Amino acid sequence: MDKYRIIGGTPLVGEVEISPSKNAAVAIIPACILADGPCIVDKIPDITDVEVEFDILRKLGATVDKLDDDTVKIDCTGINTVQCDIDLVRQMRASYYFMGAMLGKYKKISTAYPGGCPIGNRQEGLKGINYHVEAFEALGAKLTYHSYTTGEITFETPGLKGNEIILATPSVGATINIMLAAVKAEGTTVIKNAAREPHVTAVANFLIQMGANIKNAGTDVITIIGVNSLKGANCEIIPDQIEAGTYMIMAAATGGDIVVKNIVKEHMESLTKTLKIMGVGVEEAIENVVENGIPTVKEYIRVYKKGNIKGTVITTAPYPGFPTDLQSILATLLCISEGVSNIVEVVTGARFAYARELEKMGAKITVSEITATINGVRELSGANVVTTDLRAGAALVVAGLCANGETLISQIHYIDRGYENLVGKIRKLGGNIERIKE
Ligand code: EPU
Repeated sequence: MDKYRIIGGTPLVGEVEISPSKNAAVAIIPACILADGPCIVDKIPDITDVEVEFDILRKLGATVDKLDDDTVKIDCTGINTVQCDIDLVRQMRASYYFMGAMLGKYKKISTAYPGGCPIGNRQEGLKGINYHVEAFEALGAKLTYHSYTTGEITFETPGLKGNEIILATPSVGATINIMLAAVKAEGTTVIKNAAREPHVTAVANFLIQMGANIKNAGTDVITIIGVNSLKGANCEIIPDQIEAGTYMIMAAATGGDIVVKNIVKEHMESLTKTLKIMGVGVEEAIENVVENGIPTVKEYIRVYKKGNIKGTVITTAPYPGFPTDLQSILATLLCISEGVSNIVEVVTGARFAYARELEKMGAKITVSEITATINGVRELSGANVVTTDLRAGAALVVAGLCANGETLISQIHYIDRGYENLVGKIRKLGGNIERIKE
């Protein structure tokens, strides 16, 4: 198993280009199933979750052809089975999107509970996807097979019918899955208390390109009027909000100065605001560039240390609130900030597995249910740590980069799931990180 070896203490300086969004890509890839022709998806991130989804599609009979480094042609017209590869499905949470897309197109899917990072109730079988299941049932699908022992499930429908669905919480996954199922359903579906994350809007825009009738994605009430058929379409994946946030926090934590490029400023507002409150230097700017002969306005953010950094209090919330996926990474910065900080994790419930690992590096963190209290220390020290999920892994990488001495991080396959070229990007900023084999 590979590890990251990091020698900390160097302020990271320079420019970093943010990759396309993992959570948008993993929804847009299964969405291609709904089209009656090939789709071209540009700006695909080179991460393992994307590769796993390509394999799931290929095993269903679809073709996935790389046109260049970051463009793929996905043709799902050859799908010849509704049985998903169970081992692949279990490797990632987003495999739940195959349910909505296959039910929408083929009225049946045999699959399994999704896998992925062990966060909240996700590992609890149907309980972890109860909003999805309830929504499919409201649209007229039935769970016709379910094995608690193997986690295998089959959903079938004689034909989905639109309905009003009120989500108990604005679940990102359920909102997108309902859109995938409902775009070809008979009649109108209304999702109330819908998630508003940027990737919900990105998926809706892609489906609209295919010919879907979706209104108000990006608000908390989305209306979908079913259509008979969808055509192949093109799309470009939006920049990754969480990767951008990771590099912004890395700049502050290492006392460096990083210009984070290829971002959408609006997506970063909750983090930008938090960093400014903490006394971190944040400058937003635009630049005019010419891309493929077309004048384009690009947004970027410069983050730098401009003095002592103060602790703060954050509560995670659905977009546009502070993202749960950034709280572990911000926690690393809070560990070396002045005073006492608090993180309240309301989106996923306790998601603090990283705390014990940061403590090995000298952090002072007390976890109580959904709250972590952090007493700032002057510095962290390198240690041998283990990552338990993707964003915990990113938090440990940031900790290793600002700590004194050597840090070894194991179980980095979690980090491979969501960060494209992490080592290359950090090294370019002057960080001392390498991937080593044991
Ligand atoms: N939940 C349920 N039942 C459901 C759906 C969700 O109980 O049917 C609970 C789960 O405990 C879950 C929480 O509600 O943790 C939030 O659910 P949501 O649907 O919003 O999130 P998700 O589908 O589990 C997606 C992202 C996560 C991100 C969350 C919140 C993907 C593939 N995953 O997960 O991304 O943390 O939304 O924004 O899009 C990551 O990138 O590291 C990551 C974990």
